[in-house]
Amino acid sequence: MNKLLTQSGMETSALTFGAMQFGAGSDAHASRVIYHMCRDAGINHFDTANGYTNGQSEQILGGCIRQERDDIFVATKVGYTGGAAPENLEHQFDISRQRLGMDVVDLLYLHRFDPETPLEATLDWFQNQIALGRIRYVGLSNFAAWQIVQAQFLISEMGGRIDAVQPMYNLVKRQAEVEILPACRAFDIATFTYSPLGAGLLSGKYTQGFAADGRLATDTRYAKRYGLASMHETAQNITKIARDFQIHSATLAIAWVLRSAFKPSPIISARTTDQLRPCLDAIDLELPQDVWDHIAAVVPTPPPATDRLEEA
Ligand SMILES: NC(=O)c1ccc[n+]([C@@H]2O[C@H](COP(=O)([O-])OP(=O)(O)OC[C@H]3O[C@@H](n4cnc5c(N)ncnc54)[C@H](OP(=O)(O)O)[C@@H]3O)[C@@H](O)[C@H]2O)c1
Repeated sequence: MNKLLTQSGMETSALTFGAMQFGAGSDAHASRVIYHMCRDAGINHFDTANGYTNGQSEQILGGCIRQERDDIFVATKVGYTGGAAPENLEHQFDISRQRLGMDVVDLLYLHRFDPETPLEATLDWFQNQIALGRIRYVGLSNFAAWQIVQAQFLISEMGGRIDAVQPMYNLVKRQAEVEILPACRAFDIATFTYSPLGAGLLSGKYTQGFAADGRLATDTRYAKRYGLASMHETAQNITKIARDFQIHSATLAIAWVLRSAFKPSPIISARTTDQLRPCLDAIDLELPQDVWDHIAAVVPTPPPATDRLEEA
């Protein structure tokens, strides 16, 4: 698998931490405490985006990293709003680097596919950022598999490559394993998957009723994304299995991503240190094989890309 390195030459950690809550769910002080707790657990890869928390996320994260810049792998994203035309990306990336306080960002993602902009123009801009030394790796987020392959083909003709892809992936959102993750494996692209807890659903806190301050209660976009009754049923099953083994449901759900077939690096996130602790426990979790077999039996596997179910 494609190994991405920090500027000091270290491989990125098994878990990535996503700073999407920095400056919102976690104030600046709480964010710094969370950052150091991640560092103590061995995490050296931190993810943010130009669009998070009005720039607070990049600003706070940049401040945390300053003292140890070369040992940290920083990823940010541009192009969630305004499209993927070079002018917009240039404008947003200038702002991101200023907020982060960094001339060089390790990994820059295009946050989502833009059907209005020719992919060649976008990738040419990314290649130019590599040539200028402003980024070290090129990433794509929220792309379909065919779009990733097309991008890899186009950028390779420019002498470059897609280094990383960031899709959604968790026990109730497994679409990525049908085509995206196999495509990444085939093209040796690193995968950093987001929302390992289904935005908190798989932490178990919604199984007893409604967690009033949780994201699924406060953010209608996420409530819709995780609104299916079958998803809540799966969360209940996972919570029960976790309880039987006296572990936190969040630990089990993140560990499942870590040991899933394509071995992505889950991008975890938490608003508080109490939330973060069980997420970090996933790093060392070891359970007998029959637990994983039991999970496989109760969590539906998505149908294969070919639709030939009898051959799956
Ligand atoms: N590329 C993209 O489009 C994209 C999209 C989304 C995320 N991301 C990246 O991926 C990262 C992680 O995404 P995510 O936040 O959706 O991940 P997640 O792990 O699915 O959800 C994290 C959320 O679950 C809740 N939680 C976590 N631990 C908990 C615990 N022990 N007990 C109870 N609740 C707990 C918290 O939310 P509440 O307390 O509010 O419920 C926390 O913010 C983000 O920070 C960002 O960097 C990328």
